[in-house]
Amino acid sequence: MLRGKNILIGITGSIAAFKVPLLIRLLKKEGANVKVVMTKCATDFVTPLTLSTLSQQPVLIEPYNKVDGSWHSHVEWGRWADLFIIAPASANTLAKMANGIADNLLSTCYLAAKCPVFFAPAMDLDMFYHPTTAKNIKILQSYGNRLIEPQTGELASGLTGAGRMEEPDVIMQIINDHFGKQRDLEGKNVLVTAGPTHEAIDPVRFIGNHSSGLMGYALAEEAAQRGANVTLVSGPVNISTQNPSVNLIKVITASQMLDECNKAFEQSDLVIMAAAVADYTPETLATEKIKKKGSLSLNLKATTDILASMGSKKKKGQFLVGFALETENEKVNAVKKLNNKNLDLIVLNSLNDKGAGFGTDTNKVTMIFSDKTEIATGTLPKTTIATLIINQIVKRF
Ligand code: CTP
Repeated sequence: MLRGKNILIGITGSIAAFKVPLLIRLLKKEGANVKVVMTKCATDFVTPLTLSTLSQQPVLIEPYNKVDGSWHSHVEWGRWADLFIIAPASANTLAKMANGIADNLLSTCYLAAKCPVFFAPAMDLDMFYHPTTAKNIKILQSYGNRLIEPQTGELASGLTGAGRMEEPDVIMQIINDHFGKQRDLEGKNVLVTAGPTHEAIDPVRFIGNHSSGLMGYALAEEAAQRGANVTLVSGPVNISTQNPSVNLIKVITASQMLDECNKAFEQSDLVIMAAAVADYTPETLATEKIKKKGSLSLNLKATTDILASMGSKKKKGQFLVGFALETENEKVNAVKKLNNKNLDLIVLNSLNDKGAGFGTDTNKVTMIFSDKTEIATGTLPKTTIATLIINQIVKRF
């Protein structure tokens, strides 16, 4: 599956660098072309000679050759790669990547890379849990880079916790999945909604909710990787997508989301409503900031249920997916929504499940189909949940 694929490996200074020779061997065995760029600090943990012997390519560390003065083009290497995998990725390098600092060959290759970038952090648990590292990882993910989660276990410091770089065989599986993704949505038009909506009360306040948009963006990305033309109608969120097959349309209110969905619905083969749309909006919008007084009552009117309105005009061949976030009588309520809104699938999140729903990078869902089939997942990254949901939809398409 990896025959002829160009994989650039970036190694930074961490004891986990000792795992990279095995990763290179596994990649070469599958027919990939491998090149290595490493930081100076990384050379203290694994020798360039070992890496160049295994990759059958010169290993680059400096931006230029000190002997003959020739320049090593980071742009060329960044463009050569079909995948750039930074493993191990130290806290220092993650901070540079997140902030556009390009002070060595590896970080300049990162900025020049046109291909997907995966990064596998390795560090002590306190460094991993430090808010700066957590923020940098979030920033990198928001740019479309993929995190290969570190494992929990014994660390080189003697402490036990998260920060151990993922094992080479698991990284191989992730790389294989990436390249093996079937283009089974080729030519299909997919409409996805994501994030919250904000309903203005006055010029400075709104009614909103905690939706991060992560689930909807992961679904849009997954569908695009599988060949679909995706229209992503997104409420206000702090994430973005770089995928050229995703047409991102930003909206703020439920009414704007409805308008954009109406424009795209007719041509859509698959519609996934992952947005947390406000059910109510203020009856009137105050033109001036509402001043503080004893108590305040707001009159709200119901918004249009976008999903239900699309369900009512669904044509043969269109597949409609809704989400249900429930806190009680989860399945009964979800099935009601499936039937009332004329859906083919409802994806149920329960707020009673740890690691599910709003504000987490993970989710745990139960898919309930119109033919009454139920499929439950474990607690997994939202990107993996997106793959599982699309796998099931494609089977029934
Ligand atoms: N939805 C929608 N338009 C709305 C409200 C909800 O399209 N105005 C969609 C959501 O995107 C989701 C599904 O309907 O896919 C279910 O949303 P949810 O808020 O769980 O349910 P509601 O139907 O609004 O019912 P309730 O809030 O009473 O649980």
